[in-house]
Amino acid sequence: MEYDASKKVGAINSLKGFMVEVEILGERPEEKELLGVENHPEVYLEVSYYKAGIAVCINLTNTPVLRCGMNVSRTGKKVSVPVGPKTLGRVFNALGQPLDEAEGVIDNLRVITEPSGIKKYRETSKLELLTTGLKVIDFLTPFVKGRKIGVVGGAGVGKTVLTMEMIHNVTQGAKNSLSIYCGVGERIREGNELYQTLKETDVLKSTVMFFGQMDAPPAIRSMVGPAAATAAEYFRDEEKRDILFFVDNIYRHVQALTEISTNLGLTPSEGGYSPVVFSELRRLQDRLSSTANGSITSVQAVYIPADDLSDPAVQAISQQLDSVLVLSRAIAESGMRPAVDLLKTTSSLLTPAVVGERHYRLAGRVQAIMEKYESLKNIIAIVGENELSPADRADYQSAKKLLEFFNQDFNVAEHLTGKPGQYFTREQTLDGIEAIVGKPDTISDIQSNALKFGNDGQKQPAQPNQPNQQGQPAKPAQPPAPQQQPPAQPPANPPTTTAPQPKPGSVQEIANKSS
Ligand SMILES: Nc1ncnc2c1ncn2[C@@H]1O[C@H](COP(=O)(O)OP(=O)(O)OP(=O)(O)O)[C@@H](O)[C@H]1O
Ligand SMILES: [Mg+2]
Repeated sequence: MEYDASKKVGAINSLKGFMVEVEILGERPEEKELLGVENHPEVYLEVSYYKAGIAVCINLTNTPVLRCGMNVSRTGKKVSVPVGPKTLGRVFNALGQPLDEAEGVIDNLRVITEPSGIKKYRETSKLELLTTGLKVIDFLTPFVKGRKIGVVGGAGVGKTVLTMEMIHNVTQGAKNSLSIYCGVGERIREGNELYQTLKETDVLKSTVMFFGQMDAPPAIRSMVGPAAATAAEYFRDEEKRDILFFVDNIYRHVQALTEISTNLGLTPSEGGYSPVVFSELRRLQDRLSSTANGSITSVQAVYIPADDLSDPAVQAISQQLDSVLVLSRAIAESGMRPAVDLLKTTSSLLTPAVVGERHYRLAGRVQAIMEKYESLKNIIAIVGENELSPADRADYQSAKKLLEFFNQDFNVAEHLTGKPGQYFTREQTLDGIEAIVGKPDTISDIQSNALKFGNDGQKQPAQPNQPNQQGQPAKPAQPPAPQQQPPAQPPANPPTTTAPQPKPGSVQEIANKSS
């Protein structure tokens, strides 16, 4: 920031890490205002808070050039990023500076710490289902326009690859789509790869990217989220657009805030996190809301430190999400992709009103079978599968088929697996599951299972003519149509071809027997 001698307000009086204390002698700068340091226009100092006559500032740049006694001036500016159509196809850091090779965008700047304000939240009746083409996501965590979905998992379980696949599937072919990508505290290589992929597939021209990767100072990492949110708010509020918002990784946002609060000497409380961290997180999540004007649909990768799902930061993030897709290390090690833990994954959008009666009932049935599978696994380890009752054995077999069915090759992982990616419509997914577990309305124990697993399994007969989300009548009573359900893209691999085909009567038969 440029130093202006006529606006001098004081001098640096202490330095500790990236915390800089400035003794204010003149007019007090505002909080969040940027200060200029004499002879060092490359340094950005942001006022964080006041301690008596001292402004406690954060050095946003990774430069060890500051010394005590250096003169400081007001600039009247706050951290701002460019917004609007000129930013499409571009890559910025949290200070709004370009990271690609093109010129910076200097008009239409918005301050990143000032939310545009939610005038009116979107009505819930406006829910619209989107398809990701990933069987397990479309089935367990419906991807609803304007809502938030989290991809939660420990290190290396496949969060980034899954997020990339969702970007690939959702943005490809979508007319008029607009995406904002926010890279926080992750690998620079991954950001670069994504940039190249988006460029090759022509999606880049409708995407704005913000990065503050792991090499950036914590203050910059903590600002990427708000910077990207500012860009999203502009498109939502001023241009009334629907935005897809991807973050990898939102946990790093919390981590950066924690580093700052530790450096500023704030007292940590819950699990080592300072309460300020959680209020900042909530502020950011609130900015990513949908309003009557436009929607922000977000996919957020969430790192779990030490594979501990009960970490207070992971819990705080999960509370803000509509759907939480949990990836598990044990499942990833068994080679399943995506490595989704079917029992820990939850969604508040998996209701008959959103997904329709047939889908909802199938989900209840699948959860029941998977729950049984978990308990049977231990018994089988001791007595063997042959000792199970026919009903239990049938459920055990169905569970194994389901696990195989949810295994799917990714487009973005083709270079890793050598297999082409697969895309499934929601109808294909439901048909495939129905072929394994049987039609939900023929399974009499569905109600008790639904009740057992916390869904509102009220006694309600199938309502064939109840309209579903697309406004078309739902058809729960239709028999599965084996010919229509092979995977969309040949060549199909064995799991996807075998799973959707109803076994010659047997699965149905056993399912019926078991009820
Ligand atoms: N769908 C997939 N198909 C094949 N390989 C995969 C798939 N998903 C993940 N992998 C393998 O797992 C590795 C780790 O995946 P990824 O980078 O997505 O993990 P992550 O959860 O983002 O890790 P981190 O927490 O370190 O960021 C990949 O490099 C790849 O080798
Ligand atoms: Mg990752």
